[in-house]
Amino acid sequence: MDKFLIYGGEKLFGTVKLDCAKNAILPIMAASIMADDVTLLDVPDYLDIQNMEKILSFLGIKVTRKNKVMHISTIGLNNYFVPITLAKELRSSIFVLGPLLSKLKKAKVAYPGGCEIGLRPIDLHLKGLQELGVKIEESHGYIFCDGSKMKSGVVNLDFQSVGATENIMMASVLLEGKTIIHNPAKEPEIVDLQNFLNSLGAHISGAGTDNIEIIGTSRLGSTTYSPISDRIICGTMLIACAMCGGKIVVENARPEHFFSLINKLQKSGCKINLNNDKITIESKGKLKSVGLIKTLPYPGFPTDLMPQMLAMQTISKGCCVVQENLFETRFKFAQELLKMGAKITIKDRIAFVCGVKNLSGADVFAHDLRGGAALVLAGLCAKGYTTVHNVYHIDRGYNHLENTLSSLGAKIIRQSEE
Ligand code: UD1
Repeated sequence: MDKFLIYGGEKLFGTVKLDCAKNAILPIMAASIMADDVTLLDVPDYLDIQNMEKILSFLGIKVTRKNKVMHISTIGLNNYFVPITLAKELRSSIFVLGPLLSKLKKAKVAYPGGCEIGLRPIDLHLKGLQELGVKIEESHGYIFCDGSKMKSGVVNLDFQSVGATENIMMASVLLEGKTIIHNPAKEPEIVDLQNFLNSLGAHISGAGTDNIEIIGTSRLGSTTYSPISDRIICGTMLIACAMCGGKIVVENARPEHFFSLINKLQKSGCKINLNNDKITIESKGKLKSVGLIKTLPYPGFPTDLMPQMLAMQTISKGCCVVQENLFETRFKFAQELLKMGAKITIKDRIAFVCGVKNLSGADVFAHDLRGGAALVLAGLCAKGYTTVHNVYHIDRGYNHLENTLSSLGAKIIRQSEE
């Protein structure tokens, strides 16, 4: 178990180059089950990606990595079962359900784990698969799926779930005929999954719009693919600089993926410059409150940047209402910010935040991935020392966050808990 020790108050200067997005790579790795050979470029070393590698290996798939290149060869695929010991480590373990059904017509998968930020049911995944003719039985913590009578059709999603959209897309790739998903999620990672599958020979169109159309194909081949860069890490770095002051450049970014954040950073007084794949932010560290933050499915403000943005409001002049519309219990990190002198009142899914002049360093505990990142950002601009415990949550989606921040001038080190 590791912790971060942070000495706050340093301005940030320098350049960060983004790797591929965790939320793009995880479904792409699962979709690779249906392919022959896949090579993925710019793959970072997050804990969640290591856990997905373990799941693929358990299924008989060979996953090798050299530097940031991952090679996946499915020739040994010999299993359709994911045990609870592997599934409990990440929510995205559920992504293998669609590809296994598509390829082997059966799957037995334990209920997924992942960040505890809400109930996170999988009913929409299962309902969508049932609409494609999958027979599902749930017992003793496992989901048994029989896809022998699967056929293409129409799936109406009651809510724009990212994971359910991706699972249903993957499940229908190898079905004869046309499948349509109405009301899908529109996140950039879904468009990326479509592009990846099409590079293998699939026929999918409409990702990012109100309807996705999948024309079945009999088999998928091989590809070399570079998934899109990580918009949440990009946002985390921009917010870090806004809070600490300084000037940083984020390279390999896709500014079109998060204008909702860029607008808010400008509103709070930061200077932003967009130049192709580079975003430059300059901040004097004296911020104005943005007034209202409401998380919504894409293209609305991303729930995965809400904790970092809320942390920023704790040192911004004025008051702000933060409304979390996606997950029920995503404010645990805010309780930790109170220990640092933040003024926050929480009622159900709404937090009222009034800015204070300075946060003060304290011992705080990460309870989930993005909430943990928010505590690190608070520590970077707080007076004195902050210790962030339970860093393993942060490692799920940031590759040695301490190194990236140190390279920008922050005083942060990793230590093991005694
Ligand atoms: C994905 C992202 C996660 C992000 C989230 C919302 C990945 C690997 N993870 O998670 O980082 O925070 O999108 O942008 O891409 N829901 C149901 N039933 C279901 C599925 C979802 O009720 O079957 C609800 C969830 O409880 C939640 C909402 O729908 O309230 C959104 O969840 P969803 O979009 O599915 O998120 P994930 O795919 O889990």
